[in-house]
Amino acid sequence: MSTRKPATIAVRTGIESDTQHHAVVPPIYLSTNYGFPAFGDVPKYDYTRSGNPNRGLLEQTLFELESGKGAVVTNCGTSALNLWVTTFLGPDDLIVAPHDCYGGTYRLFNTRAQKGDFKVLFVDQSDPQALAEALAHKPKLLLIETPSNPLVRVVDIAQVCQQAHQVDTLVAVDNTFLTPVYQKPLELGADFVIHSTTKFINGHSDVIGGVVITKTEQHAEDLAWWGNCIGATGTPFDSYMTLRGIRTLGARMRSHEEGATQILDYLKKHSLIERIYHPSLPEHPGHEIALKQQSGFGSMLSFEFAGNFEQLKTFVGALQLFSLAESLGGVESLICHPASMTHRAMGEAALAEAGVSQQLLRLSVGLEDPQDLIDDLEQAFNVILEDH
Ligand SMILES: Cc1ncc(COP(=O)(O)O)c(C=O)c1O
Repeated sequence: MSTRKPATIAVRTGIESDTQHHAVVPPIYLSTNYGFPAFGDVPKYDYTRSGNPNRGLLEQTLFELESGKGAVVTNCGTSALNLWVTTFLGPDDLIVAPHDCYGGTYRLFNTRAQKGDFKVLFVDQSDPQALAEALAHKPKLLLIETPSNPLVRVVDIAQVCQQAHQVDTLVAVDNTFLTPVYQKPLELGADFVIHSTTKFINGHSDVIGGVVITKTEQHAEDLAWWGNCIGATGTPFDSYMTLRGIRTLGARMRSHEEGATQILDYLKKHSLIERIYHPSLPEHPGHEIALKQQSGFGSMLSFEFAGNFEQLKTFVGALQLFSLAESLGGVESLICHPASMTHRAMGEAALAEAGVSQQLLRLSVGLEDPQDLIDDLEQAFNVILEDH
């Protein structure tokens, strides 16, 4: 296992690996198929759905970053989650998922469970009683999303894995918000790590992708077989682009967090903010767990807006440096209203259950100058304050 730090793995993996022309940066292979050296002599890559040099290199980079043994890169984060459940669940098997997970994950598991593909229980994993009750059903799989989207709730990975393993439940952690730069779930006991690489891993809001990373080679083989069978794998061009984005992962994550820290300091004092959600805040539930299992707090934060709903809309509309858009983790700053955007697929009852209110706004802090971002928030708040 590599002892190198994530920033080094992100930059160096595959550099100078081209034996034909000695290109420093590995070239892109767009070919859909590869010649057989001789009759019956199956090459490492034969057809791009099952394997491709660019996807292989991206998989290697990702599993080395997460200290895993294998990985399957998929065409989006949702298909990574779908591949995982397809590989390991049958109609009688149960998966336990967080009640406040990403809305698309909720929709995927809920819809497939309604079709009878498997059974699902959504639980508040920070509630030990609810978790123990769910595990008493001996689920085959358990998904942790920490910090969660959008309330950045923190779940104790080591503790949940230990409890889950007692009943032979395999655990995956959706590590999209922190990346291996700030959190290494496999080292804390998880069996799989899942990413929407669309977010921080690629980091430039120009490629949709996903990955399942495994602790064992056998699980990687199982996932690769199913990935090829159902056609969930990522394309060479997307893989090339994602690896290009990964090269700067260490520097980006540090810079994102620096900006978020300054913005938090500003927001904490503002009269139009009711409550802020970020794992760095001592009053945030799970702050102590974050200190234990994360090496950084990340740059995703949410807050309850203290004005009325019309004022909230005016505030969002007045912002110039925060684009009103879904997704997260890109170089550009974004603002999102989860209840009507990313999480609307959950429906009203599930949103209420997960604590996602109409007053909640989520920020993805980008890499613009933090003072410019603060000035932008200030002028947008002032539009409301001056209106009074
Ligand atoms: C935490 C998390 N997991 C998974 C996904 C799904 O990824 P994708 O949009 O790449 O399918 C998202 C998307 O926002 C997410 O935020």
